[in-house]
Amino acid sequence: MNSYSVIANYYDKFTQNDCDYTRWSQYLYDVAKQCGAREVVDIACGTGKMTALLSNMGLRVLGVDSSAEMLNAARAKCRATFVLQDMRKLVLPHATDMAVCVNDGVNYLKPNQLQPFFCRVAASVKSGAPFVFDVSTAHKLRDVVGDNVFFWDGERETLLWSNAFRGDRVEMDLTLFVEENGLYRRSDERHVQYVHTAESIQNALVSAGFCLQAVTDDYGKEPTCDGLRQTFYAKKIQ
Ligand SMILES: C[S@@+](CC[C@H](N)C(=O)[O-])C[C@H]1O[C@@H](n2cnc3c(N)ncnc32)[C@H](O)[C@@H]1O
Repeated sequence: MNSYSVIANYYDKFTQNDCDYTRWSQYLYDVAKQCGAREVVDIACGTGKMTALLSNMGLRVLGVDSSAEMLNAARAKCRATFVLQDMRKLVLPHATDMAVCVNDGVNYLKPNQLQPFFCRVAASVKSGAPFVFDVSTAHKLRDVVGDNVFFWDGERETLLWSNAFRGDRVEMDLTLFVEENGLYRRSDERHVQYVHTAESIQNALVSAGFCLQAVTDDYGKEPTCDGLRQTFYAKKIQ
């Protein structure tokens, strides 16, 4: 199965206590306000958790994702505009005021896809526009989720999430059992997330025409050596 297909209907349930979207959205909104941004592209928007929050805060949001199933869930959540598109081939109808990529979107890119992706983002936003994204750190992928198994056991759904760390990436095998009329239907998906160092991200940003403004832990916190998520705030050079 393609990644984020079957899992899409259960994604919000499985991730409900995972991340502080309210605090993250406030960080993004503050950046938007400081920069006078009114329209934001939410890249790898998934089921639209951040899209909906930013849209409710009064921003015009364009959500982009490569999973039709995730976008269907997003459309049911808010009235933003959604586009089915691979972010590695990102092309927007017009340049927006700001770009965001929240909760691991960038980890789905291979190391050699990082700089070309940043170039596409640069081409999709106006001069001086902010671009904010996060990455799960090497520490998290190697020591926390890598070579580990997690499960989520609900009333009618059970998810097994089994990971193998392979040096520059984590291969994640997801197995979902959903109860239907007394029987369980099994579906499997593989997700691959790549490690990106802060240095490689910084170099790729600069070569794509961005100037780095700040690197924080988890949307605005003081950086630490054992942080799980780093947030990059860059601006397209004027
Ligand atoms: C962990 S989810 C995060 C979704 C959303 N941003 C959130 O915060 O809930 C990662 C998302 O990245 C999307 N994705 C992965 N690779 C992609 C690609 N090449 N182009 C567009 N979307 C992609 C997946 O479909 C999925 O919706």
